[in-house]
Amino acid sequence: MVYINENFKLLKRNYLFAEVANRVKKYKEAHPEARIIRLGIGDVTEPLTDSVIKELENAVKEMSKRETFQGYPPYEGYEFLRKAISDFDFKRRGIDISPNEIYISTGAKEDTANFQELFSIDCKVAIPDPVYPVYVDSNVMAGRSGVAKDKRYSKFVYLECKEENNFKPELPSEKVDIIYLCFPNNPTGQVLTKVELKKWVDYAIENNAIILYDAAYEAYVREEGIPKSIYEIEGAKKVAVEFRSLSKTAGFTGTRCAYTIIPQELVVYDKEKNKYPLGELWLRRQSTKFNGVAYIIQKGAAAVFTEKGQQEVNKLISYYLENAKIIYDTIRNLGLKVYGGVNSPYIWFKVPEKFDSWSFFDYLLNECQIVSTPGEGFGQNGEGFIRLSAFGNREDILEATERLKKLNI
Ligand code: MLT
Repeated sequence: MVYINENFKLLKRNYLFAEVANRVKKYKEAHPEARIIRLGIGDVTEPLTDSVIKELENAVKEMSKRETFQGYPPYEGYEFLRKAISDFDFKRRGIDISPNEIYISTGAKEDTANFQELFSIDCKVAIPDPVYPVYVDSNVMAGRSGVAKDKRYSKFVYLECKEENNFKPELPSEKVDIIYLCFPNNPTGQVLTKVELKKWVDYAIENNAIILYDAAYEAYVREEGIPKSIYEIEGAKKVAVEFRSLSKTAGFTGTRCAYTIIPQELVVYDKEKNKYPLGELWLRRQSTKFNGVAYIIQKGAAAVFTEKGQQEVNKLISYYLENAKIIYDTIRNLGLKVYGGVNSPYIWFKVPEKFDSWSFFDYLLNECQIVSTPGEGFGQNGEGFIRLSAFGNREDILEATERLKKLNI
């Protein structure tokens, strides 16, 4: 008899976005004529930019000739891409991150899920609530969660994010080892100022903790004083890993390319207090379980880190941010309390009193044929909230807001 990994029994039956997709599929089967507008999962709709397409085409041609053909990519990514990222994302902004601190991968989802493998099973993990469910589920699968009770896990330290604190977590009152943070935040769209983020870096330095900082939405930051990278904060290189992605920045959700920053000074210890550089451990893990990102994709990705590429990407981001504003204003005019939507592609709002998250999700689907994401799926504190994504083409966003305006709530 083969026994199950018991940790899987602690998980919700379906991954949040799989559950949403199942419900939408059922609705579509019952209403084949419905024109559904998808503002649920944050999946981009606008095509890859001209520079990226051109480089992808060039790379395809290179693969057709023996002299330029490429086989297995390097586990950590090609030097040309790591150097371009180091220059454009960091050095130009006065941040000293070198190419050998950058690790290319297929997604921030996979990297944030897998990174916990490098840490002891006994590490105390602090997780915001609400939160991108991947951080929770991956630690549950690994066996770090303890038992499930009242929609929470006994061994996690929850960082409460509620209206009362503007959805900005406070420092944990007990000592933790690993801290997940995501800013601009998924799902609430909230951001931290440099001063607010510095408190976390200081906490991690004082408590020998490591921050796993998900910056997948950094490109949406447009306001002064809001950091795009945790390394803008003094001392962060000693305590933080940063996850970045081209998915929401340059339309790579389907093309798949992301990168994780592991500063050289970041180390973990064994029980005898021997030091292990985290970057070396990650490479050890990646080279065993992952064979790199395709040459063609990395060439396309490198086009993002050029003057022209940056201009194109900025245009894309402006487009989605304009969508976010249209949705934000519509929800606010309905008289609902709304967050996010500025420096972020996500709009987070409170549902009318007679609903909870999932019943309002059903209501939006039935009344407006709009797919949303129920806040409860992101954690207990998300109950009573809905997330809408601003990723969509403008016609769909305008159509969605017209439908929303007609609601009688
Ligand atoms: C989301 O909708 O939260 C994201 O698209 C999910 C992801 O990036 O995996």
